[in-house]
Amino acid sequence: MRSRIAGTGSFTPDRVITNFELADALGTTADWIEQRSGIQERRWVTGRTTTSDLAFEASVRAMQAAGVTAVDLDMIMLATISPDHDFPGTACFLQQKLHAPEIPAIDVRQQCSGFIYALSMADLYIRAGQAKTVLVVGAEIHSKGLDVSPRGRDVSILFGDGAGAMVLEAIETPSPEDSQIYSTHIHSDGRGAKSLWAEAPGQAMAGHRITVEDIEAGRHFPIMDGRRVFMNAVKRMPESIYEALDANGAKIDEVEWFFFHQANLRINEAVAKRLEIDGSRVFNTIARFGNTTAATIPLGIDTAVTEGALSRGQLVALSTFGAGYTWGSALLRF
Ligand code: UT7
Repeated sequence: MRSRIAGTGSFTPDRVITNFELADALGTTADWIEQRSGIQERRWVTGRTTTSDLAFEASVRAMQAAGVTAVDLDMIMLATISPDHDFPGTACFLQQKLHAPEIPAIDVRQQCSGFIYALSMADLYIRAGQAKTVLVVGAEIHSKGLDVSPRGRDVSILFGDGAGAMVLEAIETPSPEDSQIYSTHIHSDGRGAKSLWAEAPGQAMAGHRITVEDIEAGRHFPIMDGRRVFMNAVKRMPESIYEALDANGAKIDEVEWFFFHQANLRINEAVAKRLEIDGSRVFNTIARFGNTTAATIPLGIDTAVTEGALSRGQLVALSTFGAGYTWGSALLRF
């Protein structure tokens, strides 16, 4: 038994935030943001929109594309680090919105690698014969959790809101050239846990999960050692692509599209250089959506499908790197 992508969907909020709109509040310039990150604009939600709302919209589109409804699902995997509430998991809120039956609804919290972790687990459930149809989603609302002041300028320029989804379905004994997921590989290294993190709220805080003093000190905002994360991403992402290729006896020239995590265009250019591939084979969305963490890869894949860039039968490699550190890859035929 193998799994294949039966359909994809995505959703981004209508509100566009350009670099110009952010620059003054962050004490930077639109040019600095674009030159150092490749980002021109990102989408931010308004009002009480929730992560599960974005996930719902992307999921409905993916299910339509796959020709399934919520009653056909055997499992929901939702990757997010911006949950609707601390608990229960956002996958449960998504399940309720979809009116899905009493299937497992699982949150995956692996930051920028969340989607590849979720994809890996969904694929393995299908290979094991435990599920036939799995909804795999990445969804994030970062805009409500950023420090939009000069103190947070290195992090807050990067992040956007959005969601991407896929329906994975079981396929019995496919031939090598059939649409399928060939392999997934996931890794983490907790020595990097504090290179990109938000300290509070959390049970590691003294006394209370969060205090007024924590909020005043900005301990609830993400902070990052940007240069260190950058250097590790440029090392781990090519490694993970080679791991995917080696596991399948595939050659890099056979891959038609690379979908990399979108944290910084310069990271992806450096990764392409290390892999000795032309940058035009990397489907970048960072200029328009920024970094949407777990949503990035499915949002990119669905954008490529919608724009006619990605077609059935093409060989695709995915790679990601993010907080944790976590990283991983997948090789699939779309
Ligand atoms: O998605 C999860 C994974 N995340 C990533 O992979 C992100 C990785 N890191 C990055 O994308 C980049 O490191 C940043 C975009 C965050 C920063 O770009 P950089 O070219 O690596 O800059 P830097 O951190 O080396 O900082 C260079 C200078 C510093 O000033 P000094 O120390 O040289 O005086 C920073 O304080 O740029 C300063 N700086 C800024 N200046 C204007 C940092 N952010 C800004 C800003 N505007 N927004």
